[in-house]
Amino acid sequence: MIINGFVSPKAPRTTGFFTRILGIGLFILLLFNFPQTSYSQTAADEANFAVCKACHTIGGGRLVGPDLKGVNERHDEEWLIKFIQNSTQMIESGDPAAVKLFEEYNKIPMPPNNLSPDQIRGVLKYIANDGKVAEGEVSVTGDTKPQEVTETAIHDPDEEIIAEMKRSDFRNMRNTFIIVVILMLISIFDLLVTKLIKARWIHFIIILISIFIGGELLFVEAAGLGRQQYYQPDQPIAFSHKVHAGQNKIDCMYCHFTADKSMHAGIPPAATCMNCHSQVKSGKETGTKEIAKIYDAIDNNKPIEWVKVHNLPDHVYFNHAQHVTVGKVACAECHGEVEKMDEIIQVKDLSMGWCIECHRTKDVQFANNKFYDNFAQMHEKLKNGEKKTVKVIDIGGEECQRCHY
Ligand code: HEC
Ligand code: HEC
Ligand code: HEC
Ligand code: HEC
Ligand code: HEC
Ligand code: HEC
Repeated sequence: MIINGFVSPKAPRTTGFFTRILGIGLFILLLFNFPQTSYSQTAADEANFAVCKACHTIGGGRLVGPDLKGVNERHDEEWLIKFIQNSTQMIESGDPAAVKLFEEYNKIPMPPNNLSPDQIRGVLKYIANDGKVAEGEVSVTGDTKPQEVTETAIHDPDEEIIAEMKRSDFRNMRNTFIIVVILMLISIFDLLVTKLIKARWIHFIIILISIFIGGELLFVEAAGLGRQQYYQPDQPIAFSHKVHAGQNKIDCMYCHFTADKSMHAGIPPAATCMNCHSQVKSGKETGTKEIAKIYDAIDNNKPIEWVKVHNLPDHVYFNHAQHVTVGKVACAECHGEVEKMDEIIQVKDLSMGWCIECHRTKDVQFANNKFYDNFAQMHEKLKNGEKKTVKVIDIGGEECQRCHY
């Protein structure tokens, strides 16, 4: 399996050790793993222009987007700040220069940015300087600071390390269980057939201890049956969120573009990858090997078969839009620090207890919330007689996701 850590460098781990005690047959085995990780936050050190490099050069010619050399002369600062923050909004509002660019660049939308105006001024200055900072230590001029620090500060930075520890706990548990069962079988075999150990109490002690340990492990496992916390399957393409959402700071919504308005967050089609990979043909880690698989999918018109990581049972209804847009819950609260993961791992157990625990403690976001404003308005209109009745359709009875999984 491709073992991609969440943090770099990958935690070196000491291997487990066996402890054998009590004569022939009685082994009590303890496997310990000690993940020792130093935590480095590459993303935090990346400067604000890093994300733009996915699609722009400064003087290196056209990529996905225009060459940015001389862009400060092509538009005024106010226009540039607005465009860089949210070009789609400008295109939708019909700004002629923005619409023209959009048409010219095959209607590839530039992803929105949450850079502050000051940070953008920094980026523009950097462009005006022709990006004259050595590769690898790109830094934005002026007093601006990369801002992802504040975005991630609310999460426990060690979440994924803990996840890795718990996964190795799980592996240990499984190994312990297998060994305990083997021990039990050996002692039963010796008791009945080989009779190497004369003192029978030794057999009984081994069997009793095995039943006790095995039973406890079974109980712990049974409670989580069907759950897959720390599930981390290999994917058909070694797609890395750390490279995309972390280092290149591509917004989650750029790819999971239905998360805010539908039940499913959705996995982007290969065509979305091509917005960039029609130009970006090789990566630092995997060269052209993995990216070539995107072209393969496009050429052969077959979808990439991603393995679904998070799975709720069919009888559970879960809606992304309700949580992301109405509840204003951040992706990271449920999925962990995805931008640091090379390979996606499920960090929460997705148990009913987990859902309920959050519902018990989380405030409903009534303020500035279209979802609730609608209800409030209807309530007002009913009260002042403007409306006689409210039909189910008025409260969303026509929305597909209310009835369909
Ligand atoms: C996913 C690719 C992508 C990324 C990432 C991206 N852009 Fe763009 N950018 C485009 C495209 C495509 C256009 C052309 C306009 C359009 O299609 O909307 C564009 C246009 C522009 C323009 C107008 C250029 C001109 O010649 O008038 C500026 C300025 C710009 N981008 C700045 C930035 C900055 C700054 C960043 C990083 C914060 C950035 N872009 C990140 C794709 C991208
Ligand atoms: C460049 C496109 C892209 C961006 C940006 C992106 N993702 Fe993804 N995401 C994918 C693809 C492709 C998959 C499926 C492959 C995989 O699981 O790694 C995926 C899978 C996932 C999954 C696992 C889904 C499952 O199978 O259960 C989660 C959770 C997720 N993304 C969350 C995020 C979050 C949160 C962000 C922003 C921090 C983000 N993604 C940004 C493309 C993207
Ligand atoms: C309240 C918790 C919660 C939040 C917030 C949340 N997710 Fe999810 N996400 C889940 C659960 C639970 C599943 C599994 C759904 C299933 O199996 O039906 C999931 C599944 C996914 C998947 C797999 C495809 C799918 O739609 O089932 C992707 C991709 C994903 N989430 C991305 C995101 C992104 C991006 C965000 C932020 C914009 C986000 N999620 C916010 C809980 C959450
Ligand atoms: C907004 C632009 C953008 C989109 C969309 C995008 N990528 Fe990328 N991708 C990049 C950039 C930039 C790199 C980094 C190239 C580098 O490291 O030199 C990259 C690198 C990669 C790599 C190589 C990683 C490595 O380090 O070797 C793979 C594989 C990849 N992308 C797959 C995908 C897949 C699959 C999708 C669609 C789900 C996708 N990308 C969507 C911009 C994008
Ligand atoms: C991190 C917090 C959090 C977690 C975890 C969470 N929820 Fe929620 N959930 C919310 C919030 C906040 C709301 C209120 C949204 C609103 O105002 O309608 C909500 C509302 C709901 C609703 C009622 C709204 C609707 O969709 O009609 C359902 C159903 C729901 N959640 C299901 C789930 C399930 C199932 C899970 C577990 C798989 C889960 N939630 C996990 C925060 C969470
Ligand atoms: C009030 C509940 C409700 C809403 C809202 C709803 N549907 Fe349905 N839908 C159903 C039911 C019930 C069936 C099963 C009908 C049957 O088996 O004859 C169904 C069946 C379907 C089918 C299967 C084909 C068929 O005709 O049997 C499709 C496709 C579908 N719906 C799409 C949608 C889309 C798209 C939307 C949103 C525009 C939507 N539905 C909104 C209740 C709903």
